[in-house]
Amino acid sequence: MINEIATEFLPAGQAAIARAAELLRQGALVAFPTETVYGLGADATDDKAVARIFEAKGRPRFNPLICHYPDAASAKEYVHFDARAERLAERFWPGALTLVLPRRDGCSVSLLCSAGLDSLAVRVPAPPLACAILEAVGRPVAAPSANRSGRVSPTSAAHVAEELKGRIELIVDGGPCPVGVESTVVSLLGDTPLLLRPGGIAAEAIAEALGEPLRLPEAEAPLASPGMLASHYAPERPLRLSAQSVETDEALLSFGPQPLPGAALEINLSESGDLQEAAARLFASLRALDRANVRAIAVMPIPDHGLGQAINDRLRRAAAPR
Ligand code: TXA
Ligand code: MG
Repeated sequence: MINEIATEFLPAGQAAIARAAELLRQGALVAFPTETVYGLGADATDDKAVARIFEAKGRPRFNPLICHYPDAASAKEYVHFDARAERLAERFWPGALTLVLPRRDGCSVSLLCSAGLDSLAVRVPAPPLACAILEAVGRPVAAPSANRSGRVSPTSAAHVAEELKGRIELIVDGGPCPVGVESTVVSLLGDTPLLLRPGGIAAEAIAEALGEPLRLPEAEAPLASPGMLASHYAPERPLRLSAQSVETDEALLSFGPQPLPGAALEINLSESGDLQEAAARLFASLRALDRANVRAIAVMPIPDHGLGQAINDRLRRAAAPR
């Protein structure tokens, strides 16, 4: 059991930035919004603080963490950038892209962040609030999504409170996250760029910037993406994907202008069929339907291109047997 901690809440602003930085420098856990989801931050150079992330989330230690920086120049002090990394950083940072790169010799980021690998995942988030916190800390900040391990990622401060109140020192409330799904994770460790996790930046756009397609990691290379457990993002209610009809005791997660009739309750991810809007609403909608008094959640088919790839990836994991 973890001792109950009094969790502070602060609205976005100068006071929150200063308090977040002060706490992070002391080894505390601070949740803050990024454009994708809320992150659970800790000083990445402090072994004890990083260990507390795993404890607060109930996260397996073999699942490595992303380090966050205020700009690409700061990230380059910790990992080796090749020409492909330069190009992607130039094109997509700040933004919803995470690059897995070789650690530099003498890299002071805790080895716990790398979970025993000799690589490190790095990212520069876009929101001015996140950047201001990272700049004020002056150290890399490790931040997984601010949910209990295996559960739906938080896209609002209220979601973070549901997951982690009493386990972390501060929650900074910056409103809902505009992208709504986690960053796209690309490994540049080998000759071929690997898509480790589809996310907030479409794989098609990354491949175009690189001038070559992204490959998927081989199924037999589990270490390539240790965090991609089959069951993840799991609501309490069972999920039924690609539904063509709905039972009366089911809730419906619909998409597009013609929702299936007959559901006990319906939330439409995007009536106009816009995948960006759908991604932004995905996790909050899953949480809302999961609270309803229904047997299961039926999900209408969602196109598998652009952000649809990330949406379908999260839905498949949410539906996977546990
Ligand atoms: O949008 C995001 O990426 C959010 C916000 C807070 O930045 N963070 C996030 O972190 O989603 P997390 O811990 O929930 O997911 C990190 C993913 C996992 O799938 C993990 O396995 C992978 O990145 N990862 C981290 N470091 C890695 C490494 N060195 N090699 C391979 N995969 C890595
Ligand atoms: Mg996560």
